[in-house]
Parts: sequence; structure tokens; C-alpha cells
Amino acid sequence: MKLPPAPLVRRFQRRLLAWYADHHRDLPWRRTRQPYRVLVSEIMLQQTQVDRVIPKYRQFLRRYPTIRRLARARPEEVRRIWYPLGYNIRPLRLWAIARETVARYGGRLPDDAAALQRLPGIGRYTAGAVLSFAYGRDAAVLDTNVRRVLGRVFLGPRRLARVRGEKTLWDLAEALVPRGRAYDFNQALMDFGATWCTPQKPRCPPCPMKSFCATYPNANGRA
Ligand code: ADE
Repeated sequence: MKLPPAPLVRRFQRRLLAWYADHHRDLPWRRTRQPYRVLVSEIMLQQTQVDRVIPKYRQFLRRYPTIRRLARARPEEVRRIWYPLGYNIRPLRLWAIARETVARYGGRLPDDAAALQRLPGIGRYTAGAVLSFAYGRDAAVLDTNVRRVLGRVFLGPRRLARVRGEKTLWDLAEALVPRGRAYDFNQALMDFGATWCTPQKPRCPPCPMKSFCATYPNANGRA
């Protein structure tokens, strides 16, 4: 896909950051830059809604305040504490990441994408989140919400329907990250997708992107 021209990229960046300044959510994992805390939040958020994650995130970190404490825990216990978020593999993966980080990296999560993605259960999304949210790197994130926003604004329904695989949207997400502002920009994309450019009832009439959105005015429940 041809990437959007530079002026459009800049306009999107500016408007999204301005939108975020007015509309951001105050979430507990946005009050820390500690890689371990960022990782816990992102793994919890992979399959669970923000409202349900908030109390669990706090409880989990009271119990396991550092990656070393988590690495020393018994996996059955980690699973039990996690349980209200669902009976699944995520707590065991998080525990395995903690073990490996302590064993191989002295307890500090790596700050490069390749090393992060070699840890159990860390894919491109989680690596991008840790790099941008904990280490301030210019890394991109692409989850369901971000995919929908970028697909609507930059591709529109016809081109989006022809997209195969993930490469197009990852290339786009990477091209959009403003240098030095990945933290706010990525958090903003997530809030914009979760609270504004929603799947069913996007807030198109007051949207700051509507003058160049490839889907406007037809997003209702479709793109
Ligand atoms: N979903 C995944 N990561 C998130 C974050 N950092 N803030 C809000 N929602 C998210």
C-alpha cells in the first residue's frame, strides 16, 4: 500500500494528540513507566475490558510488586489470583516471562523488539506496547481498536476489504508514530478506538478526523 502523504500524517498526529489531551482516560498503568507494570497491564488487557482489569491490576501488583517476586511465586498460585479474569494461559505466560527475564536478563525486561518477542507469549503488539510505554521508543502498536481506526481513516471500506494479512496495517501504524511522542500517540490511538471510533456507534459528527477520513460519513456499524 502507498503510505499516506506527509502532510496528512502530520495532520492525523496533531489532531489525535489534541483529542487525547481533552479526552484521555486516567488509567492506573498510565501512572508508571516501569516495564514490569506495563507488561502486566498489557497482558491483562489482551482479552479483558479496561473496567475489569483495573482492580485486578492493582491486586496483582500488591501481591507481586516486582518481576522477581512473580518469578519466585508458584504458578498455581499466580493462576488462582488471576482466575476472575478467566481460566486461561495468560497468567502462566506472564509467570514464565518473569522467570526467563530474571534468568536471562537480570530481572530487567529487554528493550529491543526481537528479544522481547522471544519471551513466551509476547508478540509484535505487546513488544510495541512495552517499547513505547515503558522505554519511550518510537514503536508502533496494532490491536483490534487501532486496526479499526487506521482502517477507517486511511483505507476506507473498499480498500480495507482487499487487505490481506497484517503487513499493510503494521506498515501504516509504523509510518504514523510521531518521533519522540510514541507514548501519548499510542495511548491516544487506543482511547480513540475504545471510546470514540467504536465498532457500532462511532462519534463521526464531532470527529476531528472527519475532513480526511476515508470512511466518513458511512462508518455506522460497518467499517
Ligand atoms: N488496551 C490495551 N492496552 C491499553 C492501554 N494501554 N490503555 C487502554 N487500553 C488498552
